[in-house]
Amino acid sequence: MTDNIPSTMKAIVIDSKTNWVTIKDDVPTPEPGDNQVLIKVAYAAQNPSDWKFAAFLSVDGDFLGSDYSGTVVKVGTNLQASLQVGDKIAGAVLGGGFGEYLTVDSDLAFRVPQDISLEDASTFGVAWGTAGQVIFKEQKHAYPPSKVEGSPWYIVYGGSTSVGLFAIQIVKRLGYKVLAFASPHSYDLVKSYGADAVVNYRDDDAVEQALKITGGGAELGFDTISEGTSFSIVIPALREKGKQLNVINMITDEIRQINPKIELVHTMFHTLLGKELNFGARTPETPMIIPVVPENHRFGTTFFPKTEELISKYGIKANPVALKGGLEAISQGLKDQMEGKVSGKKLVYKIA
Ligand SMILES: NC(=O)c1ccc[n+]([C@@H]2O[C@H](COP(=O)([O-])OP(=O)(O)OC[C@H]3O[C@@H](n4cnc5c(N)ncnc54)[C@H](OP(=O)(O)O)[C@@H]3O)[C@@H](O)[C@H]2O)c1
Repeated sequence: MTDNIPSTMKAIVIDSKTNWVTIKDDVPTPEPGDNQVLIKVAYAAQNPSDWKFAAFLSVDGDFLGSDYSGTVVKVGTNLQASLQVGDKIAGAVLGGGFGEYLTVDSDLAFRVPQDISLEDASTFGVAWGTAGQVIFKEQKHAYPPSKVEGSPWYIVYGGSTSVGLFAIQIVKRLGYKVLAFASPHSYDLVKSYGADAVVNYRDDDAVEQALKITGGGAELGFDTISEGTSFSIVIPALREKGKQLNVINMITDEIRQINPKIELVHTMFHTLLGKELNFGARTPETPMIIPVVPENHRFGTTFFPKTEELISKYGIKANPVALKGGLEAISQGLKDQMEGKVSGKKLVYKIA
């Protein structure tokens, strides 16, 4: 460690006694390894996965937090990206974002463009990566300035989610017209991010409204909620034109039968990070290991570094930020999101 990097730091960890989070103030500051840099975390943004990991998945002492922005303070060996001490970077990790220092793979981060704040940059993490994974990798679109022909409709179910706000912006840049499903209190928000039309997903005739607007459906859709009644709205809204719908939860055969002609693709963001994940860590007798998917990791190492260009050249905006305080505010933020009290904004914490 160099003189100005402390040997221990504060970080949020899982406490198995409470099945929740606690702040630990004597965590050894990590050392950057192969292809890694150590950053001093400036801001960390919160995702729904954070409370889900805290409540159901992580085990004692696990670190929490994915989305970060900060400054490189030390570099490891064999970097795959040309980062150096002093660079401002952002991205996503699998745990550790809610801590004062963090090691990240150099090729899974992006340089923060000068025209956006570190606060805003911290929102380009899991939700941004998920939107990119679905649209560029799984729906096989080329990056802008490439555009689709004829301005077809594209449907985003859950337009006001963090993932949805990024997805709307990307598909607009690709030349689509966007129909989003959201609550009326989110209409102005989703329109300000580029949606051409918005339908209230709670309306009894939501599907009919969507079909009228799109003139009979759309080839592609993205369901950023994928639970409750979402499938019974978005699948019929794609109708016979529908070719592919990307979802963020497991799909049952019953859901596939709603319209078997539409390919339903389940996206797992963490596979972009090239790390195995065990969803069964709390029950060692029944592990549920999601293995590394090399082609998804390769995509992650091209998409995250490209973020700088997508922001600067194509004007992709951050999620609306609600700045909440520091590490001490995270427990409450997680509870608020767990209770469904977070709508249309990203909870962001100032770490340093
Ligand atoms: N599989 C993966 O790899 C992956 C990756 C990222 C996220 N996810 C999951 O994707 C989901 C979205 O994540 P996020 O961070 O984008 O969420 P978020 O920003 O926390 O989403 C909040 C929004 O959800 C909307 N919403 C809630 N219930 C809805 C429903 N039934 N229909 C339509 N909209 C609804 C609310 O919109 P209104 O206020 O407008 O109603 C609210 O604004 C979460 O479940 C997350 O865990 C999965």
